[in-house]
Amino acid sequence: MRVELGGKVAVVTGGARGIGRAIAEALSANGARVFIVDIDADEAARTAAKITSSTGECVALTGDVSSLEDMAEVAETVGPADILVNNAGINTRGDRVPIHEYSVDDWRRITQVDLDGVFITSRAIIPGMLERGGGRIVNISSVAGIVPLRLQSAFVAAKAGVVNLTKSMALELGAQGILVNAVAPGSTLTDGTKALFYGEDGAYTENAESLLSHIPLGRPGTVEEIAHAVLFLVAPESSYVNGAIVTVDGGWTAGYTRDW
Ligand SMILES: NC(=O)c1ccc[n+]([C@@H]2O[C@H](COP(=O)([O-])OP(=O)(O)OC[C@H]3O[C@@H](n4cnc5c(N)ncnc54)[C@H](O)[C@@H]3O)[C@@H](O)[C@H]2O)c1
Repeated sequence: MRVELGGKVAVVTGGARGIGRAIAEALSANGARVFIVDIDADEAARTAAKITSSTGECVALTGDVSSLEDMAEVAETVGPADILVNNAGINTRGDRVPIHEYSVDDWRRITQVDLDGVFITSRAIIPGMLERGGGRIVNISSVAGIVPLRLQSAFVAAKAGVVNLTKSMALELGAQGILVNAVAPGSTLTDGTKALFYGEDGAYTENAESLLSHIPLGRPGTVEEIAHAVLFLVAPESSYVNGAIVTVDGGWTAGYTRDW
């Protein structure tokens, strides 16, 4: 997919790996100067170097999206940005427990990154965007923010928060030329989800097979498929799209898939 992003400055949080890396690669391949903001300094530097050597200048910045100080420093270093992709996110690893057993530490850690992080990063970047006369913000939510899942209460609540925060930002900022939308990925194949869930050798685990039987396309998404949706939302052509939640989930949230 080709869109014209020449001269645009883009910030991608959590861009060192996974979906964020694919987004950073796609933005760079279409002409944007990309700043990756990630808590993992080494991986961010590796990714930025790889992008710089293939498609264009990419800069790695180390920072935690839930830290006011870190994001103020990022905004200062980047200067006015045209594009912000709030992608950084975490979930519990394998341990799925009901709400009354859910760890308070995990709740705070996950909501701080997945929801507070979107607020704190946007709050830092928006003033520069307004100075620039407008821009695009894409928040990465999840299918879990649209249709709740069991045993992941913090993630589900945070990602649902991102959905309504996106719409609220769209209402506040649209008139000032900043369009705000979200992408809600379904289950997406990354190194992380392979190690945790899908299996490393290409043959799916029993759990994965069970989940995939509820997804009309019968497979997980690729990181490139998520990046393409982001690319559409930051492209000049999507100039009337504001406050949309674009699901990229193979039909997972389209309806109930069991026959009666
Ligand atoms: N992979 C999926 O199946 C899936 C499905 C739905 C939604 N999502 C969402 O997509 C986004 C990316 O997911 P992914 O699977 O690529 O994750 P990932 O774990 O592969 O990568 C996340 C990146 O974010 C960085 N990060 C984590 N905490 C951070 C913080 N506090 N500050 C800055 N950087 C931080 C990590 O270092 C890492 O580089 C997340 O918001 C996730 O919730 C993923």
